[in-house]
Amino acid sequence: MRLCSRSKLVLACSALGVTFSLAACGGDDTAADAAADGGMMKSQTPKNDANAPTWYKDIAPIVSDKCTGCHTEGGIAPFSMKSYESAKDFAGSMAQAVEDGRMPPFLAQETDACKPRLPWANDIRLSADQKKTIRAWANAGAPEGDKAHPGKLGTPAPTKLAREDVVLTVPEKITVDGKQDIHTCMVLDPKLKEDGYVIGRQITAGNNAVLHHVVSYLVTPQTKADGTMQTRAEMLAALKKEKNVAPGGRYDCFGGPSLTTVGFEMLDAWAPGGVPSMAPPDSGQPISKDALVLLDTHYHPTGNGAETDDSTHLGLMLATSKPKLVSRVILLGNFEGTNDTNFGTSTLLKQPGESKAEFMIPAGEAKHVEEMTWTWKLGKTALRVYAMGTHMHYVGQDMRVTLEHAAGARKQECLIETPVWDFNWQRGYAYDAAYADLPEMLDGDTVRMRCVFNNTTDNAHVLKALDDRGLDAPVDVPLGEDTLDEMCLAAVGIVYPNPN
Ligand code: HEC
Repeated sequence: MRLCSRSKLVLACSALGVTFSLAACGGDDTAADAAADGGMMKSQTPKNDANAPTWYKDIAPIVSDKCTGCHTEGGIAPFSMKSYESAKDFAGSMAQAVEDGRMPPFLAQETDACKPRLPWANDIRLSADQKKTIRAWANAGAPEGDKAHPGKLGTPAPTKLAREDVVLTVPEKITVDGKQDIHTCMVLDPKLKEDGYVIGRQITAGNNAVLHHVVSYLVTPQTKADGTMQTRAEMLAALKKEKNVAPGGRYDCFGGPSLTTVGFEMLDAWAPGGVPSMAPPDSGQPISKDALVLLDTHYHPTGNGAETDDSTHLGLMLATSKPKLVSRVILLGNFEGTNDTNFGTSTLLKQPGESKAEFMIPAGEAKHVEEMTWTWKLGKTALRVYAMGTHMHYVGQDMRVTLEHAAGARKQECLIETPVWDFNWQRGYAYDAAYADLPEMLDGDTVRMRCVFNNTTDNAHVLKALDDRGLDAPVDVPLGEDTLDEMCLAAVGIVYPNPN
């Protein structure tokens, strides 16, 4: 079994983005308005309540752990929580945002239908007590407390890779102006001397104000019709022919590289605030010396004049010895066209009222469901799931991925649900568990993807997409790779014994 022949697994196009909200680019207004609504006014002075939580003792420890990855000077969020001075005016809106669940952004949520068995790593959600503490602090007028006796600050996840063995920088200066988002796929050459394994990946933004998200891929030689592999020269020629692009160049793309004449597989998905993405212990993603790297990049204009980016880069950390396990992210779903027969089969399920199964979201439908299954043909190989992500476009509302076991005591387990989908806050979610405890996928097991779509103007993202296209009413939405097409894709981080 060759799990790396990705063209079999990545069905149709693919993307798992990790992005931040469009509203992030609106400047301070949102936050300032919210602060005014949310309780404390800027002129309010702290009340004299000796028992109230204070910034130094209670609030800084919470926000240093859960918020300052983004809410920092020059960060993507509209205000900084690094100091009392910069945070205090937002106390009311901070309390409101965490009570509403808007902040911190974390799309994976437990629902009645989906309770993943394992906790998430780097779970930045607040406990009920922490939310109450922020509310009590805001209600007391945001007291500063005693700088000399602070509470213990949190230890946020590391923000830098320990080592960058390969550095891939945007090939040219990108200028983001006007109103138009830029969706571009940049092709870069890591110029590797030998095959290896990627164990860590990290994007460093060149301009936080406009870099919205980056999904990175390996572009690899593909198996030819005669069963042999493309050489590197053949891969480069195919890329040139299909997209008129060479290493150092770029082409327009949305929601994935959409390449059919060369292979590609996902490396990583990044959004502002993202921490380095590390492979599980003693595992790595094989990288061929012939591989290129593709950065599927989304820039969003600030609305306040031109911004440029000439320094965003992807850092890769490579293994120094051969890992025992292989880990990588595969994309399941959207099986149109390619129906894999080697190690899985996919089926689009017929929904009530449909005469035949069809992926089509009619204009005006608020709760349209599409479901598909992927059934593994793995022989004796067992795959474990170390991370999960969901991917839809602008019409998506809710996505759930369930693993149904063909045999064994555990009949099924929910892997992830993102019940309040937001295109702008996509990312991957890793389980916080040892290899032996991770969900196991065996021959005959089925992964079920269930997507709910809202194709009405009640969906703010639909409104935005229609506006971008100059349309004033929803249209029927088919499967596809355009802004007003849809997908129902699960990104599954898998780890399995290294066959080499
Ligand atoms: C992953 C990055 C990220 C993290 C972590 C994060 N924020 Fe935000 N926050 C943003 C961005 C971007 C915006 C502006 C866009 C928006 O509102 O979605 C924002 C806006 C806000 C706003 C103003 C708008 C609103 O929704 O009220 C508040 C208040 C806020 N955040 C509070 C918090 C608090 C409190 C935490 C931690 C418990 C937190 N944020 C964690 C990125 C982040």
